[in-house]
Amino acid sequence: MSARRTLPPSASVAHAGEGAKLHAPSAERNAAAISEALREFAPETGPALEIASGTGQHVVAFAAAMPGLNWQPTEIDAARRASIDAYVAEAGLPNLRAAMALDATEAGWSAQQAGQALIVLINLLHLISAPEARRIIAEAAQALAPGGRFAIYGPFLRDGQATSEGDARFDASLTAQDPAIGYKDLAEVEGWLREVGLSLHPVRQMPANNLFLVGERPG
Ligand SMILES: C[S@@+](CC[C@H](N)C(=O)[O-])C[C@H]1O[C@@H](n2cnc3c(N)ncnc32)[C@H](O)[C@@H]1O
Repeated sequence: MSARRTLPPSASVAHAGEGAKLHAPSAERNAAAISEALREFAPETGPALEIASGTGQHVVAFAAAMPGLNWQPTEIDAARRASIDAYVAEAGLPNLRAAMALDATEAGWSAQQAGQALIVLINLLHLISAPEARRIIAEAAQALAPGGRFAIYGPFLRDGQATSEGDARFDASLTAQDPAIGYKDLAEVEGWLREVGLSLHPVRQMPANNLFLVGERPG
């Protein structure tokens, strides 16, 4: 995680794997469902940027499932970038690059990443503060090409409430560790996406109470 935050161990579970590879059981569980949802919304071709790629398990699946897109994984954490690079090397896909270092909450990164057909953000908004989440959304909107899409996957509150006991417990454990972080409310995040000029596709319900949101930059 970002060096600035101490999170409960349940926030970002990844075990050591072969060589530099890390293995996140959650990424293994949800990769196929997210990939399927992304394929419905992703433009056929162009550059695709993943923010907070984690272990690299997702981006390898996405690059294989969407071969017309050129995928760039990014991560703040060096050990995770090494893991991504190990998965990327093993996959040997022509449309998948090595990991790039990116703190997505820093202002200004969109200037170097302009023209993205697709930007993907999975399981980060609940682990950062609201101002940081808004900054990522603003930077992503700036980095999209006209007609480009920004897909966000993760757990959300609905009308300010967690939708399961497990979500309520996890959210409480996050805010106990750091009162600035925790689950964001769906309507609030939708408002932030609209504020930066993105139009919204219908929200999709995903396994384990997660949601899949897509914002589109007008063409
Ligand atoms: C819960 S993990 C999710 C990883 C991956 N997207 C997945 O779903 O398997 C959160 C990830 O966000 C990364 N991260 C935390 N703060 C970040 C930041 N400010 N910019 C970019 N990545 C960040 C962490 O290093 C970690 O890999």
